[in-house]
Amino acid sequence: MSPFLLTRTLPEDATGAALRADVLHGLTRTPKTLPPKWFYDARGSELFEEITALPEYYPTRAEREILRARAPEIASATGARTLVELGSGSSEKTHLLLAALPELASYVPVDVSESALRGAGESLAAERPGLDVHAMVADFTGGLTLPETPGPRLVAFLGGTIGNLLPAERSVFLASVRGLLAPGDALLLGTDLVKEEAVLVRAYDDAAGVTAAFNKNVLAVVNRELGADFDPDSFDHVALWDAENEWIEMRLRARSPLTVKIPELDLVVRFAAGEEVRTEVSAKFRQGRVRSELSAARLELTHWWTDTAGRFALSLATAV
Ligand code: AVJ
Repeated sequence: MSPFLLTRTLPEDATGAALRADVLHGLTRTPKTLPPKWFYDARGSELFEEITALPEYYPTRAEREILRARAPEIASATGARTLVELGSGSSEKTHLLLAALPELASYVPVDVSESALRGAGESLAAERPGLDVHAMVADFTGGLTLPETPGPRLVAFLGGTIGNLLPAERSVFLASVRGLLAPGDALLLGTDLVKEEAVLVRAYDDAAGVTAAFNKNVLAVVNRELGADFDPDSFDHVALWDAENEWIEMRLRARSPLTVKIPELDLVVRFAAGEEVRTEVSAKFRQGRVRSELSAARLELTHWWTDTAGRFALSLATAV
């Protein structure tokens, strides 16, 4: 059995403090917002797993297709001895990568969820003798310090999650990722691509209503953690394409005028009929934008791979 180490860089109550700050800030401004990271309690993570299997939600399958086809090229182009996976979550994609990287000495999954890290990390350490697994409970959008492991390093940020960041946040994020790399190290980035509006909207408004339940789950999180009295049934799920910004937005729209109490924040929030809370931005990309945002962070795009249907892309970039 290989070593399994876990480092916690988040203070015990950091999550609670961040949630309070985000909810206070987001629900007292116009228009109202809640950040998407609060979808993912146990129920939300389960719903997201269900989303990835929906017929309308293509990104997970498309990315898996690319990883299957390109893992050997990723391995030979990077020669990675350390794989750092940001937002590792469920580990199915990780297996495809690990299988293609026989030289790998060290795997560093980074996630805010300690339970997800323990489950995935311990079984991997058991499966792959000689692979050093050093899990990190950390918020990768903040400053992250990696353990000292052998280079070259490959940082993977998959699933299209970078699309949850606004453009200004992406540039801060990419600069901080670049800060983790030495020249010659690499970033593997998954991005969903701009495509026909109907296809995009359906992926975020599925017929079975799983995405609607996922969206409303953020209200259940605020109820449980902050004692709020949101009635999820008083809100409608909305998914729309913003053609100018080239992103999907998810919103929750109040069906009637309503008042919500949030005791932990000493806050009463009023909604007009039809008023919306923006709960997620999911940006869609073209190659030019990916290339230029990487380049602004001193990351040079060297490979661009899409699935056969051209829906999703994996980019490989070298730190310069
Ligand atoms: C996990 C952020 C990549 O934006 O497609 C799925 C989350 N939201 N359905 C995405 C999500 C609604 C997903 N990411």
